[in-house]
Amino acid sequence: MRNLNEDTITQAVIERFSKTPDPRLKEILSSLIQHLHAFAREVKLTEEEWFRGIDFLTRTGQKCDDKRQEFILLSDTLGLSMLTVAMNNKKPVGCTEATVFGPFYIEGAPSYQNGQDVANGASGMPCWVRGHVLGLDGQPVANATIEVWQADADGNYDVQYADLAHPQARGVLQSRTDGSFDFKTILAEAYPIPSDGPVGEMLRASNNHPWRPAHLHFMIKAEGYETLITHVFRDGDQYLDSDVVFGVRHSLVVSWKQQSNGDHLLEFNFVLNPLQ
Ligand code: BEZ
Ligand code: FE
Repeated sequence: MRNLNEDTITQAVIERFSKTPDPRLKEILSSLIQHLHAFAREVKLTEEEWFRGIDFLTRTGQKCDDKRQEFILLSDTLGLSMLTVAMNNKKPVGCTEATVFGPFYIEGAPSYQNGQDVANGASGMPCWVRGHVLGLDGQPVANATIEVWQADADGNYDVQYADLAHPQARGVLQSRTDGSFDFKTILAEAYPIPSDGPVGEMLRASNNHPWRPAHLHFMIKAEGYETLITHVFRDGDQYLDSDVVFGVRHSLVVSWKQQSNGDHLLEFNFVLNPLQ
């Protein structure tokens, strides 16, 4: 294949990859080539611009380590994470909606009993969380695994500190026989996503802020139900309509009440989608 030009190269590249034995991989590669080439044509990409693009992607990769995932931030801020969540989590009405996973989940968080404090020393105002895990028809889901993680009052997740002796503001609990759960934690506050890397540069270059509205992350697993990955957001937060990662869903925004002693209380029921 010689003398390819801007009109013939796309088809030639697609044909080069047409021997891919895995049909799904073949479909993805072929579409990716088609769309990448169409993008370059549409914006009339210069060599200088593509060199800068490669430099941006290189630095994005170099920023990644076991605690910092700049590619997840890129996917999140470009809306690609939320698009894939939306396409792949179509649930019956009444089920709790899913939202982005984010880069700060870690496996092996400490286990807690209901009623215990998952903050484990993290800074923040006291907040109590309680609710039920339910099936779509309202029946309690006993023994569901509830994983929760959140940022502290300074807007940092425990993994963002180099010198913490133990995990903070994350934990794993089980729902009781009646589906109920409760724990103590700290009040979630709005926080900026890390912006000292290429993704931060992109946000600044496009006049966008890096903030996420206050939220708690949850992952809930129970036998016979789809795993739910979601957040609960605090009503009234100034960033609910401009979340940097497009993760807010109206049904996940809840009024967190301040009690007479100053502690906050969040009440929320999670409704799981039964497996088919
Ligand atoms: C988070 O909520 O933890 C998060 C989500 C996406 C990007 C950065 C942080
Ligand atoms: Fe978060």
